[in-house]
Amino acid sequence: MATILFLNGSLRRDSLNGRLSRVAARELPEGYHAEFFDVGTLPFYNADLEGETVPDVAQRFRDAVRSADGVFVTTPEYNYALPGVVKNAVDWASRPMLPRNSIVGTPMNVAVATVSATNGIRSLTDLKRIWANCGGVTVNSFDFVLQNAPGKFIEQGGVETLEPVSLTTLRFALENLERLIEHKAGQVIEANWDAYTASLP
Ligand SMILES: Cc1cc2nc3c(=O)[nH]c(=O)nc-3n(C[C@H](O)[C@H](O)[C@H](O)COP(=O)(O)O)c2cc1C
Repeated sequence: MATILFLNGSLRRDSLNGRLSRVAARELPEGYHAEFFDVGTLPFYNADLEGETVPDVAQRFRDAVRSADGVFVTTPEYNYALPGVVKNAVDWASRPMLPRNSIVGTPMNVAVATVSATNGIRSLTDLKRIWANCGGVTVNSFDFVLQNAPGKFIEQGGVETLEPVSLTTLRFALENLERLIEHKAGQVIEANWDAYTASLP
């Protein structure tokens, strides 16, 4: 059984991205299991909290990222950028760097739900860049931004889902992540990371 860790970058109770996250989790194929972590429970990253122990919630978050086979982030775009709550979560996961931070080799894909008809892509590309720079693996050539999101959710048999075109695109985003996992795309990045860290004085 493979685990996908779902993270939502909005703390709002009725978050569109939270709804998208729950739709996505229901779309996982057989053999995949969804876990959720509320990144809003993490304190602001502060290196002074990095002693022999770190805050329990930060340790649990690092463990959740490390043990997940893949991560699927849903997030808004705030002021043409990635919301601080997601960046803060990445900062926690990115330390300690040695021997490997918890992101190294971990495949991630991201979807953005926005009320806007034109925006959202910057938040997505921010996260892909940052994740890759921390040693993670991302889906390169396919981006899923759910624009005009409030009108894209429908109910089917008492369960919320997306209208057909958006649902097909969401499934494709998940399949791209699953392929990274199944092809063990993280292994080469782990090897590069280990070579780099071994070269450090
Ligand atoms: C501080 C702030 C900044 C925003 N900036 C953007 C933006 O740059 N691009 C965009 O597409 N939407 C922007 N929005 C609108 C969001 O798309 C909208 O609030 C959306 O519902 C947020 O996601 P959520 O429903 O998951 O909370 C912004 C909203 C807030 C509160």
